[in-house]
Amino acid sequence: MTTTRRSAMSLAAVGGTGLLSACGGDQGSPAGDSSDEAASSVRVPVADVPEGGGLVQGQVVVTQPSAGEFKAFDARCPHQGCAVNKVTTESIACPCHGSQFALTDGSVAQGPATEGLTARTATVDGADVVVS
Ligand code: FES
Repeated sequence: MTTTRRSAMSLAAVGGTGLLSACGGDQGSPAGDSSDEAASSVRVPVADVPEGGGLVQGQVVVTQPSAGEFKAFDARCPHQGCAVNKVTTESIACPCHGSQFALTDGSVAQGPATEGLTARTATVDGADVVVS
């Protein structure tokens, strides 16, 4: 009886390996890579990001501290998890307890937060800033 159970498990393992191999082959294609990137990235029109300021779009904050220099951060405040909701020429602000973060690197400008915003990658692609 034990032998039968082991045989069944061996067959399942072989089948599982076969499925993983097939998936691995698909992920290696250029089309698979670009669709994965598109699913996790956010595009913001460059024209919508004011120089010396920024904007909050969904789960990300995009800033342009100086002309042509774009930065991006997670919008989730590291204090207690509220979403930051305002970007001024001075800072990125959280409405819940008043924390403020620097436009240039997301570092804490005013507590109670003790950690800065999580940085994302901002890349200009044509007329858009792509946040990944
Ligand atoms: S959650 Fe942002 S300051 Fe508290």
